This record gives sequence, C-alpha cells and structure tokens, in this order.
Amino acid sequence: MLKLLITRPIAQPVLDQARARFDVTLGEAPLSEEEASSALTAYDAILPTLGDAFTAAAFDRAGTPRTRILGNFGVGYNHIDVAAAAAAGVVVTNTPDVLTDATADIGWTLILAAARRAGEGERLVRAGQWGGFGPQSLLGTHVTGKVLGVVGMGRIGQAVARRGHHGFGMDVIYFNRSEKDAGLPARQVDTLRDLMVQADFVVVTVPGGARTTKLIDADALAAMKPGGIFVNISRGEVVDEVALIDALERGAIAGAGLDVYEAEPHVPERLRALENCVLLPHLGSATVETRQAMGQMALDNIISFAEGRDPRQRVN
Ligand code: DGY
Repeated sequence: MLKLLITRPIAQPVLDQARARFDVTLGEAPLSEEEASSALTAYDAILPTLGDAFTAAAFDRAGTPRTRILGNFGVGYNHIDVAAAAAAGVVVTNTPDVLTDATADIGWTLILAAARRAGEGERLVRAGQWGGFGPQSLLGTHVTGKVLGVVGMGRIGQAVARRGHHGFGMDVIYFNRSEKDAGLPARQVDTLRDLMVQADFVVVTVPGGARTTKLIDADALAAMKPGGIFVNISRGEVVDEVALIDALERGAIAGAGLDVYEAEPHVPERLRALENCVLLPHLGSATVETRQAMGQMALDNIISFAEGRDPRQRVN
C-alpha cells in the first residue's frame, strides 16, 4: 500500500476514502522546512496545505525524494516551490473552482463589514457600551452604486465582481494582465494606480508568489481615495502590511478588511488595535461544503496519479 501523508485533519468522508486506498498518516500542524524535507523522503504521496514549507531548500535537502505527488489542499500553492518540485520529479496539483464562491462571499463579508463598521458595532454591543440608536452614531459608507475595483480578475475576482454588479449595482473596474470577460460590464484599467485612484472599494484577489509580492505598496495605497476601503482575500504577502497599517492609522483611507496576513497566524499588534479594520482568520474557503470539496479534489488528484492517470488539476 502506498504511504500517504495528510498534513492536517480533513473532512471525515474524504479521510475514510483515503484510508481505504492508502496507508495514511495524519498530521496536526504545519510542516517546517525540515519536516517537509523529511516527509518527501518518507511518503509516496503527500496532501499538504497552506503553511507547509515545501521550499526549494526542502526539496534540495530531500535529494531524490520518495514522494511523487503533492496533492495540495487549496487553490493557492505559494508555500510549494513548484519549479523545485518539477526539478525533483514531483507533480503538484491544487483545488481551483470549488472554493470560488465561498472566497468571493468572504470578500463581500469584509466589504460590507468594513463599510458599515460592523466590527466596531459588534465590539460595542459585546462590551455592554452601546448607548442606543443615534442619528449620527457609527455612520458607515454606502456600498450600492459605488465603484468596485478588483485587482486580479481570475475566477475569484470575477465572482466578487458579479456580486458587486448584480447585487449592489456597482460600476466594476479591474486590473489584470489580460482582458477578461466576466459576463458583465467591467472596465479594464491600464495600471494599478488607475484602479486605486478610481475605486471606492479595492478588493485584491491575485495569486500569491514572487510576481505579486508587495504589489500593493505605500504608493498604491497613497493613490486611494480618502474614503476608500481596502480588502485583501488573496495572500498577505501581496500587501505591504506596514504601509497599510500606516495608511489606516493616519486615516489616509477609511478602512480595510483582511482575511490574510504576511506572517500567518501572526497578526501585528498595531493592526489588531485599529478600529477601522475588520480582521478575519483566513476564512475564505471555510464552509463545510467547500472544505469537503477541496479535500475530495486533492485526494482525487492523488488517486488519479497513483492509478497512472494525469491528475486534472496539475500545476507543474
Ligand atoms: C486557498 O485555497 O488558497 C485558500 O487560501 C485556502 O482557503
């Protein structure tokens, strides 16, 4: 029986299927570079996820790995050096599509919560400090009819845009390397700066990786409208977190909603102290249905590979 390492607990029905076919070891915590390297020499297949450090150094240290496939749980795979994996003869797969709606919904949770100051309001009620309805208290900003700027018009960006257009009558603009037909009137802008200048709400959905690291820097944030709201549902590294904190502290932008952070699970104290920032613990794909579908897709890719077929969601 092939040895499969599943690095974190996944949905029970998927785990049961895995156990019926493989000799499964179930992990509990993210693998360090050293642990990832050892795993590459000990297992035939690995089902890793965000936080497992399959870096170039991990592959290097593993030499000629026993592992033939990393069936990643997650659409994002910037924790895996796919080029190093390919060089070591290791196939990498991911789990696109199944998490698109759930992740777009979290984008909208953040847009609405930041715009309507829901975090502040909830903290007030829970602290027993709410003084009652007031015509001028906790006023937020209107969402309907405003300009939505999407950075990265892939599957998730398009799903965010659809919700903005159909649900909130927003004008959608987007910044993306290629033109995209999202099936709605959305205007592509030439530069990131154009988007930051024009949008009332900026939502970042680009994949993580070297090309997008610190894409949203101090200059990009400085271009935003003073009443603008910034939302990140992609990867923390895409944003210069210190620059964002500075902008929020100075009131240079009205607010932010974040699901992802530069050094998860660490969230800087200065960020946690900000009232005008809604903070979620990387919940993008966190629905029962979605997480089960992601597990199933990751396992199906590993099964296909083990049976000699090309896995459908291969990325290298
Ligand atoms: C992904 O799939 O990349 C998400 O960030 C995890 O939910």
